[in-house]
Amino acid sequence: MIVQTPPMGWNTWNTFGEHINEQLIRESVDTFVKLGLREAGYQYVVIDDCWSERERDSKTNEIVPSKEKFPNGMKAVGDYIHENGLKFGMYSCAGVRTCANYPGSFGHEFLDARTFARWGVDFLKYDYCLKAFSDKAPYLYRRMGQALRTCGRDILFSACNWGVEDVWSWIRTTGASMYRSTGDIFDNFESMKNIALGQLPKMCYSAPNCFNDMDMLTVGMFGNGNVGSSGCSYEEYVMQFSAWCLWGAPIMLGCDLRKMTPEIVKLVTNRDLIAINQDPLVAQPYCIEPGAMGSDLVNVARILEGGDLAIGLFNFSDNDRHTTVLLEWLGLPYESKIRLEMRDLISGESMMSGRDEFSVRIPRHSVRMFRCKLVPAV
Ligand code: GLA
Repeated sequence: MIVQTPPMGWNTWNTFGEHINEQLIRESVDTFVKLGLREAGYQYVVIDDCWSERERDSKTNEIVPSKEKFPNGMKAVGDYIHENGLKFGMYSCAGVRTCANYPGSFGHEFLDARTFARWGVDFLKYDYCLKAFSDKAPYLYRRMGQALRTCGRDILFSACNWGVEDVWSWIRTTGASMYRSTGDIFDNFESMKNIALGQLPKMCYSAPNCFNDMDMLTVGMFGNGNVGSSGCSYEEYVMQFSAWCLWGAPIMLGCDLRKMTPEIVKLVTNRDLIAINQDPLVAQPYCIEPGAMGSDLVNVARILEGGDLAIGLFNFSDNDRHTTVLLEWLGLPYESKIRLEMRDLISGESMMSGRDEFSVRIPRHSVRMFRCKLVPAV
């Protein structure tokens, strides 16, 4: 499977945990379509852990969907997702049990891959709990990778080993199209900040066919649900969505789609931010100032297809700040005779940079995101 840009979709875990069922999936699919998420580029509807019975079928050894949660089986759920023009994602685990203690795929990888193919699955998130200490991650992920490659259906392989065992150094050998690089996100500012800042130096490992997955977003959860913690403010969600877009991570929403406020819908369908996430050049984002990595005020840039430049100015600190960016830090020295026409992707307003620099005030816990055109300085 060729995956040119970061996958986009929605996953049940962050909000619903074990409280999932067919009705919820149907309502979420309906909402997904009604709110225009499909048109904005979102594709996958992923059912995370807790969808099966506690034990495999004793005769066939197959994983069996929970009769209570999914009385019509998973094929019916997949059909509904497909009828709505979306793709069907499922979850399993490289160990003998999943993280929530349902059957895992170890020793049954090829059987499970064939079962998923029969149900019409298009995406498999593959977790890392309850595996034998001696079984190393590359070995386990290659097993399921091969099972998926031979199951007769194109299934996107989404590895989830939380960044351990230097996952970036071997994950491409497994055929995975994305790899979780961190432990679980929680719906609070610190968790989001740690993931964003921690992964920025690791985006050099993220490229077409295998993307650094910084976890499902908590945007729009406002403290509710399975990983709901103290919650974030709207501005902090703008930071989160902007960071995931600019860093080039998969965008898997994790809130209750049915309860998104209009401003959250507007944020997660912001075409300009999504265009940066999905930019065909898939260039690596970089920290603008030399030596600024590790600071709470982080200016990040990324070259885009066609010559534009994306710039995000993130104030992760607890105080309002001013930041100045010298154009020469962007590869545009004075003698280039270029300045920037900068469009703010949240407010829609435009401004011009100076010939040498631009300065912007950024309130605490907020971001300014710009798409910049390089124009002659007259
Ligand atoms: C792990 C993963 C989560 C989620 C749960 C399910 O913690 O990292 O994203 O899939 O398991 O139990």
